[in-house]
Amino acid sequence: MVLDFTKISTTEKQQWLNHAIAPRPICFASTIDKEGHVNLSPFSFFNLFSSQPPIVIFSPARRVRDNTTKHTLQNVLEVPECVINIVDYAMVQQTSLSSCEFPKSVDEFIKAGFTKEAATMVKPPMVKEAKIKLECKINEVKSLGDEGGAGQLVIAEVLCMHVDESILGDDGKIDQRKLHLVARLGGDWYCKVDETNLFKVNKPNTQLGIGVDALPEGIRNSPILTGNHLGLLGNVHDVPVINPAFSDDRLKNIIQYYSISPTEMEKELHVYAAELLNAGKVSEAWQILLSGENI
Ligand SMILES: Cc1cc2nc3c(=O)[nH]c(=O)nc-3n(C[C@H](O)[C@H](O)[C@H](O)COP(=O)(O)O)c2cc1C
Repeated sequence: MVLDFTKISTTEKQQWLNHAIAPRPICFASTIDKEGHVNLSPFSFFNLFSSQPPIVIFSPARRVRDNTTKHTLQNVLEVPECVINIVDYAMVQQTSLSSCEFPKSVDEFIKAGFTKEAATMVKPPMVKEAKIKLECKINEVKSLGDEGGAGQLVIAEVLCMHVDESILGDDGKIDQRKLHLVARLGGDWYCKVDETNLFKVNKPNTQLGIGVDALPEGIRNSPILTGNHLGLLGNVHDVPVINPAFSDDRLKNIIQYYSISPTEMEKELHVYAAELLNAGKVSEAWQILLSGENI
């Protein structure tokens, strides 16, 4: 199906996009107005855009319902500073509570039950409970329009970052498994990042991968190997060659057992290679596949 965005309502666009562009990290922004009233609100239209200068952007959009603007936007236009508190699983229900549309005079720290902690370089307070807080100055607010739903980009430069030591690993860096980040998806869906759903993909380095197009045809068109398998095989730097020292009992059995049926043999070899690739054993998988190509 194709959705023509010139023909659907703003609410529909928002729903389709929110489900598709997900998960989104949550910026829990603490801001302050000229009179010193503090505001605390979550924004998932948020991300990191630059390391030098260190820039993050979040977007308190104009309300679709009545085209009014959010207190957070009004505050950063008055006092161009904020603290971005990073939301983890332990904070998610209180964070959601703070997103209720309380009147401007209401302090969401109090309503949601969070503790204020003085920031070191900016006026808005930090959320003590957050494991990471970014003190920021606002460089620019870029409006994307004046209709309901129009994003208002708050371009914030990070001045300093507070990191709770409980989330550090032995190397003194953030251990992604200890932070328990949460992120927002479409509708009421959130996700929680923990060890059960994290996985690693090796960074391709400066050396180029050979590419899927360089894989032997029988491998590239395999009905067994998936796109992920082909991606792993195509990420080697040179097309591997058969290693005469490579010895494997299951390989020997497949070759012996299926010697009268090359098609069946290829299928079995691809099934075995897929298992090895799933276990991250790329060079072993290549040896199995090359054995099949050379029979
Ligand atoms: C997890 C979460 C993410 C949200 N993300 C956004 C967002 O990116 N942009 C937005 O305009 N509103 C977003 N909202 C809604 C605002 O938090 C909500 O409108 C809030 O009341 C604004 O408060 P304020 O008027 O005090 O600034 C989000 C709400 C939640 C719970």
